[in-house]
Amino acid sequence: MRTFELSPRLRSVADMVPKGAKLADIGTDHAYLPTWLILHGVIDRAIAADLREGPLERARLTAEKYGLGDYMSFRLCDGLSGVGEEEADVISIAGMGGETIAEILAAAPWTKSGEKLLLLQPMSAQPELRSWLQSHGYVICREVLSKEGDTLYVTFQVTVGQMAPLSAGELWAGRQQQSDNAPLRAEYLDRLMTQSSRALEGLRRSARAAEDGRLAEMERLYQDLLHLKEEWATWQQ
Ligand SMILES: C[S@@+](CC[C@H](N)C(=O)[O-])C[C@H]1O[C@@H](n2cnc3c(N)ncnc32)[C@H](O)[C@@H]1O
Repeated sequence: MRTFELSPRLRSVADMVPKGAKLADIGTDHAYLPTWLILHGVIDRAIAADLREGPLERARLTAEKYGLGDYMSFRLCDGLSGVGEEEADVISIAGMGGETIAEILAAAPWTKSGEKLLLLQPMSAQPELRSWLQSHGYVICREVLSKEGDTLYVTFQVTVGQMAPLSAGELWAGRQQQSDNAPLRAEYLDRLMTQSSRALEGLRRSARAAEDGRLAEMERLYQDLLHLKEEWATWQQ
């Protein structure tokens, strides 16, 4: 069988797709994810959707190259607007900003109905997406980290439900549990701490930041992240 390797970033999404899922891959571009999943027998067919014709054409070419043209349905649409509720039970949205992902979900409230599984890999605005999800009736059941080159990526496994409120640190770093098998977690927390400590330095030089509360807020966030890092280190002993 002709096949190919997925990048570690996309592989981390692929590993969360249940066997036999009805997958819709939103913002599919080359359609590597659905193509790989069909080639490896994880799913039988998929919807590959993209906002733009160029990426969707690339998706068609990939499917043709691997002889899967008949197993994929191509949709030129914004987010989930071209996908019917009954057509997908697993929705992957990878390689977009967190705000765009939230907009796509907000425009498709049916993602909260029934047994939908959402696999979301935001490239930016992760805290904003976590916050949006918790205030709109979604639960982040699990977060998985992957690394490509020097970059860390996070994928959220999300369903409908009520999530216990996330602390400021958890909005940045995600919720952690002692049972998590997450070899990249310590590095992720270190990077977030470096980011927040740089932000703190900047805010300490600004009189306005002290007055309007941004300095105190960043100090709380830093302490919260420090607590998560120490807790994680203790669990690893
Ligand atoms: C960086 S690519 C990611 C491709 C692939 N999902 C991955 O993770 O490697 C982002 C893709 O999302 C598409 N896109 C951006 N906004 C979108 C939207 N609102 N609805 C559907 N597709 C969108 C872009 O056209 C582009 O092809």
